[in-house]
Amino acid sequence: MNTILQNRKALEPTSAPSVFWCQDLISTRDLGPQGVEAVLHLAELMKSRPTVFQRALAGKQMVMFFEKPSLRTRLTFAAGMASLGGVAHFVDQTGGRIDAREKLSDIALNVERWMDVIVLRTFSQETIQGMADHASIPVINALSDLEHPCQALADFFTLQERFGNLRNIRLAYVGDGNNVAHSLLLTGACLGSSVTVATPADYAPDAGIIREALKIAKQTGAQIRLTNDPGEAVAGADAIYTDAWASMGQEHESKQRANIFRPYQVNRDLMKKAAPHAVFMHCLPAHREEEVTNEVMDSEYSVIYEQAENRLHVQKAILYLLLGGAVRLPVRSAHA
Ligand code: CP
Ligand code: NVA
Repeated sequence: MNTILQNRKALEPTSAPSVFWCQDLISTRDLGPQGVEAVLHLAELMKSRPTVFQRALAGKQMVMFFEKPSLRTRLTFAAGMASLGGVAHFVDQTGGRIDAREKLSDIALNVERWMDVIVLRTFSQETIQGMADHASIPVINALSDLEHPCQALADFFTLQERFGNLRNIRLAYVGDGNNVAHSLLLTGACLGSSVTVATPADYAPDAGIIREALKIAKQTGAQIRLTNDPGEAVAGADAIYTDAWASMGQEHESKQRANIFRPYQVNRDLMKKAAPHAVFMHCLPAHREEEVTNEVMDSEYSVIYEQAENRLHVQKAILYLLLGGAVRLPVRSAHA
C-alpha cells in the first residue's frame, strides 16, 4: 500500500497557487480552469520531451476496470503508464457490472492495498463517484454515461497544437448531446473557448452539465451555445466535431436514432459552412457513412488520428498529476 498517496487524498492542497494539485478526475469539474490548463501544459512538455519523464511513475501500479469495450483509452492508458515507468493491469468487466460480484466499497478497500490509481470505464457515473468515495487512491473517469473527460482534454490539446490560443477557438459539436459533448462543453468552458452544440430537440446535453458549463463560462469568458440547427452551429467554426449517434449500450436504438440524426451527418456540404481552415474531429470509433462520410473522415482536414495520439500525452499528464507530480503553470496562464 502506498501510504503517502493514501494520506495525500485526505489532505487539502498546500501548494502555492500557481502549482496545480488534484485528487481524482471523475469529472472535468474536478480540474476546473486551472487544472485543465495544467494538464494541457504538462501534456505539451511530455509530448516534446518524453525521456525526461520515463521514470516519473516508477514503482506505481495502475488498474483499469472497463465495463465497456475500448481500443484507444485502454491502450493509451497502458502505454502511457509504461512510458512513465509504471505498471498497468487490466480487468475486463465487459461480462458484467463491476459491483455484480461484491460491493463497490469492498472492491475499493481491496484495490487500494495493492494499487496506486484506478481507471474506470462504466455505464454509470455513480459507479465512478462511488469508487472515489471509498478508495483512498486517485480514481480516473475513462468514460461513463455522463462524461469522457480524458477525451475532451486530448481534443482541446489537439486544437491548441493546430490553432494556438484556445480562447479564439470556435468548436461546433453536431450530433448526440452525450458524454463526449458534455466533456467538450465543460473543457471548452474552462479554457474560455466558444462551444456550440447542435442536437435534435430530444437529445440535448444534460441540463446539469449545461448549468455547470455556463457557470464556468462566466468566470473564463467562454461562449456556450445550444441549437437544433447544425448549419447555424457550424457557421464560421474552426472545428466540427461529431460522435456516434448510438453510444455503447444504446445499440438497440440504432435504427430509430439513424432516422432522427440523419440531418446531423457531417459531410462535405456541412464542412463548407465552417471556416475555410476548419478541421474535422471525432473521438472514434466512427460509424462511417452514418454520423460522418468517408470523404470527410479521410480528408486532409481530418485530425482524428492526432486526437487519438494525443490521448496518450494527455493521460500521461493526468496520471503524473494525480500520482503526486505538480506542474507550475506558465506565466501566460489566464486563470491563475
Ligand atoms: N475515444 C475512445 O474513448 O475510444 P475507445 O472507446 O476505443 O477507448
Ligand atoms: N459516445 C461514445 C463515445 C465513445 C468513445 C460512447 O459512449 O460510446
